This record gives sequence, C-alpha cells and structure tokens, in this order.
Amino acid sequence: DTGGYEHYLLKEINEQPETVARTLRGRIDDRFHIAHLGGLNLTPHETRAFRRVKIIGCGSAYYSGQIGAQLIEELARIPADAEPASEFRYRNPVVEHDTLYVAISQSGETYDTLAAVQELKRKGGRVLGIVNTVGSAIARECDGGIYLHAGPEVSVASTKAFTSTAVAFALLALHFGRVHDLSPADGRRICEGLRRLPEQIREILGREEEIAALARKYADRPSMMFVGRVRGYPVAREGAQKLKEVSYVHAEAYPASELKHGPLALIGPDMPTVAVVPDDELLDKNLTTLGEIRARGGQVLMVGHRMAEAKLADDCIVVPKNEVELDPILLTIPLQLFAYHAAVALGRDVDKPRNLAKSVTVE
Ligand code: BG6
Repeated sequence: DTGGYEHYLLKEINEQPETVARTLRGRIDDRFHIAHLGGLNLTPHETRAFRRVKIIGCGSAYYSGQIGAQLIEELARIPADAEPASEFRYRNPVVEHDTLYVAISQSGETYDTLAAVQELKRKGGRVLGIVNTVGSAIARECDGGIYLHAGPEVSVASTKAFTSTAVAFALLALHFGRVHDLSPADGRRICEGLRRLPEQIREILGREEEIAALARKYADRPSMMFVGRVRGYPVAREGAQKLKEVSYVHAEAYPASELKHGPLALIGPDMPTVAVVPDDELLDKNLTTLGEIRARGGQVLMVGHRMAEAKLADDCIVVPKNEVELDPILLTIPLQLFAYHAAVALGRDVDKPRNLAKSVTVE
C-alpha cells in the first residue's frame, strides 16, 4: 500500500523524518553525550583495540558506507574506508585482527555482501552488520550490529535505508569517538545535531514542488555530471546512482577536485552538472569549480547551504544546515526527489526500474 502516494519511492522518501527518528530512538545518551548501541557485542577494551574500519556493501549501501567511513575518521580518528562488497569478496582480501569489518545491507540478503561476510568470518574477522531486515541472512552471520528500524523498503531504489544507514554510522562514529578522544562538547554537538535531523528533513520535503520543477527542466538532457568534494562526494555518487536507476539518464559522479584531470572534457551545454556544495572548509574550492564548469558552457544546479552563493549557479536548492559531519545526510534528500521527479517526467517505471531487482540474491 503506497499510503496515498503515487509510488512507493515517493512514500519512502517522505517517510524519512520518521525513519531517521526510529533509527535514533533510545540510542542517544544526553548525560554523557554518547550512543547506546546494545547490539554491537564489543567491550570498551575491544573497541579501543581496533586500528582500522573496513566497510562493505553494494550499490547505495556502498555509498552510504562511504559517508560512514568519513564519519568514523572525523569523529573517532580511526582510519576507515568503504569498498563494494562484490569487489572485496573476489580479491582474496587480507583480513587483519585489528580491523573491524562493517557490512551494510537493507535487505540483509544481497548475495555478494553475504558471501563477503562469510569469507571474513571464515578468516576470523570481526564483522558488524548495519541491516534493516531483522533476522535476515547477513544479520545472522554477523557478530553484532545495528538494526535500522526503517520499516520495509519496497521501491527498488533505496532511499530511507540509505539515510538511516548514514544515521546509524553517525551513532557508531559517536560511540567510537567517545571511547577514544572525541570531547564531551563535540559529543554533545553531534547528539544535538542528530536530534535536529527529522525536522530538517521535513523542511526539505516541503520544497518538493521547487525540486520537481528543476527535475523537469533537466530531465531531457542525455547526461548529467554530479560532483562533490570529500563530504559532498558520496552524496554526489548517490545522487547520480538514484538518477540513473530510476530515470535511465546517464549520470556520472566525480570528486570535484578530479574534474580537471579528465571529465572536464565532457562539460558543455549538453552536460549539466549537479554540484554538492556544503558550507564547510571546502566551500571556496567548490565555488571555484562552479566557475570552471560555467566558463565551459556547462549549466550548474547547486545543492548547498548558502543562498548568497546561488548567483554562481544557474539553479540552486538550499537545504538547512546541520553540523558539518551530518550535512551529507540532509544534502542527499533533494537528490532523491530530483531523481524521482525526473523519472516521473520521463514516464519511467519508478518503483521497478528495468533490469534491476530489489535484492540480488544470486551470484
Ligand atoms: C541493488 C539494489 O541491487 O542492491 C540497490 O538495486 C541496493 O537499491 C543494493 O542499494 C544493495 O541492497 P541491500 O539490500 O544489500 O542494501
């Protein structure tokens, strides 16, 4: 039941204020500014012993893992990176005793991710699962983890599971950070930022008509570029992924810093760019990139925080500002709506895109 919405995808996008609140429920401790994550099965001693975090998942789960890796590095200062589970399992990975492995899966049944977890377990790796579906195969294989509590996700393109996974990583990074050197003041800043998310998501959803108009404006282009730097980069990747999945428009995501090392050759009137521009220490660098794109005749749709900079782009979606570490979660939401409305404008099968399955349980 789509609950009055035209598609499950739109329903699930609109559920995000509640689903993010459910991922957070009962997990924030305002006394010590820590996260309560009852299912990790890690002692403080074990938590301190990990020297590295390796995150694996497929598709959107992998991109949310990239946000997760950045959160863990920023808040806990533990080296962390994300890799597609499908690649990881085929490259005979070196499994280290002081690395914590984290597997992400909405369904908990993705075969590539499950096979990677089984390989890790066979080699003695310690694996946490960030999973939506309780009791699923991946959840059962892991040593512990975090359930998203986002409710069933029906549309093939992942939306609410993506944001809830990023929120779960913020909690995990807060937890690791406060076991290491994250100050109580910074812990409090993150706790308060997390609590603001549902209301801010609601605010973005309230701007659906404005975003839909932009989607209709750009939907007839054969191709779109998505760029972002550091915190904006996984957002750009997910934005491109959503657009190609549901609208079949070719979309490429690049780190904004890499544009001039190749893809700038593609920029021109036929290739508009969606630029993810958070108000962080890289703002000026990102604004320079916008100028470089426009100087080559490329149109820019900027998704960011500062209205004053809107004149540097052809179009602009301004989202509410949270803490810099949490901003990627909010910046993702308009790109979901953009992809949805592009797909509707093009008459696509929004909830069941051609050639895709919700959960790929085969090799
Ligand atoms: C893909 C789906 O095949 O699997 C994506 O089309 C999804 O939407 C990916 O992100 C991973 O799925 P899961 O269930 O492991 O998170």
